Amino acid sequence: MKSDSSVIIRPARNVSGAVRLPGDKSISHRYAMLGAIAHGTTKLENYSTGADCASTLGCLRTLGVVWRKENGSVEIDGTNLELRAPTSPLDCGNSGSTMRMLSGILAGQDFTSELIGDESLSRRPMSRIIKPLEMMGAKITASDGGRPPLRITGNSLKAISYETPVPSAQVKTALLFAGLYAHGDTAVLESVRTRDHGETALRAFGAVVQQQGNESRISGGQKLDAIEAQIPGDLSSAAFFLCAAALFPGSQLTIDFLLLNPTRARLLDVLIGMGVGIAITQLEEKHGELIGTTQVTGKALTGANISGAHTAELIDEIPVLAAIAPYSTNGMEIRDARELRVKESDRIAAVATNLRAMGARVEEFDDGLKIPGGQELHGTELDSFGDHRIAMAFAVAALRAKGETRINRSDAAVISYPAFYETLDSVAEC
Ligand code: S3P
Repeated sequence: MKSDSSVIIRPARNVSGAVRLPGDKSISHRYAMLGAIAHGTTKLENYSTGADCASTLGCLRTLGVVWRKENGSVEIDGTNLELRAPTSPLDCGNSGSTMRMLSGILAGQDFTSELIGDESLSRRPMSRIIKPLEMMGAKITASDGGRPPLRITGNSLKAISYETPVPSAQVKTALLFAGLYAHGDTAVLESVRTRDHGETALRAFGAVVQQQGNESRISGGQKLDAIEAQIPGDLSSAAFFLCAAALFPGSQLTIDFLLLNPTRARLLDVLIGMGVGIAITQLEEKHGELIGTTQVTGKALTGANISGAHTAELIDEIPVLAAIAPYSTNGMEIRDARELRVKESDRIAAVATNLRAMGARVEEFDDGLKIPGGQELHGTELDSFGDHRIAMAFAVAALRAKGETRINRSDAAVISYPAFYETLDSVAEC
């Protein structure tokens, strides 16, 4: 993301109060896509305010889907599985979720579409969806090394059983969406369980999806029915506030109507393990998703080791965990996180660069980071690397640094959370 925006973050003494977050990004994408191919009009309240989910809606419009946005709600008129051939490329912007998951639906259409993205998305690997969707019968061309732009010619699909080489909920979801259009049962097997919003969303729209162990299975030919839903607050956006409060013993922060899906909530276990007080109340289930109020109390922070399956579960939260690690007593080691190098930026390099600029000692591995605890950081000038999660992670780290921190290209935060800095300002006491 190119921009000359910057933000100054001043040290805080405490992070307290109450926040409510815009709708979860993963769920917003899925509900919008399924709403577009369901029968009837889907009404989504608290749809994600991020640019990524706007990219999904933009692509759907180019595919002939009629939708309306009013006061944070989106109404989508479903097309009953059949989209319209686009007359221009589908612009996925910065959103890997849009490109990968929508490809699953496009693979089953009887037309050709082209998906394009910004500079960052154009560098990201797409072979992970190209290979299985081609096995199902779609024809897909891409740039060298399986990068965008993608040209997808849909087909009548055949079901496959597929074991994903890299744990990825985006790939799993794309294949389950394609499975709706396939003859027979499509099964996706993962070595490590990833977030299950695709399965849950399909069920919310009336499809039958079986899950056994790490395998998810869907029969082709199922129709979807529109839903009315209020999307719970984004847990990956909440991570920045939870970690900010965790930095200051005595902080008391409440986040209500927050997504607490167990396949996404590993961060809460890690924070509890680091000594942070976390209480959950008002638990409820809506459309198969667990939602509740989370209260966090800052206490002395110990440390954490994150590896294996936990790394995959925490993939979006690792930048902010790493950013607070120097302030913990025992530090943090993160391994098996090679996938972070192919996110919106190389997040391992970005975290190491910014922590070092703030004066921290950091060891960088191909698949992770080791950050000793008990370090004092100082404010300085940092870059977001055009990556929303790096911008927000370092806004959090800056709260406990000595002196002011300037984050350049800070508006990268619009990708998932445009109001992030205002909300952080409202709970950080200087
Ligand atoms: C997402 C899955 C993750 C995550 C991304 C959203 C999803 O990506 O990093 O922000 O909504 O399924 P991968 O599936 O590529 O791991």
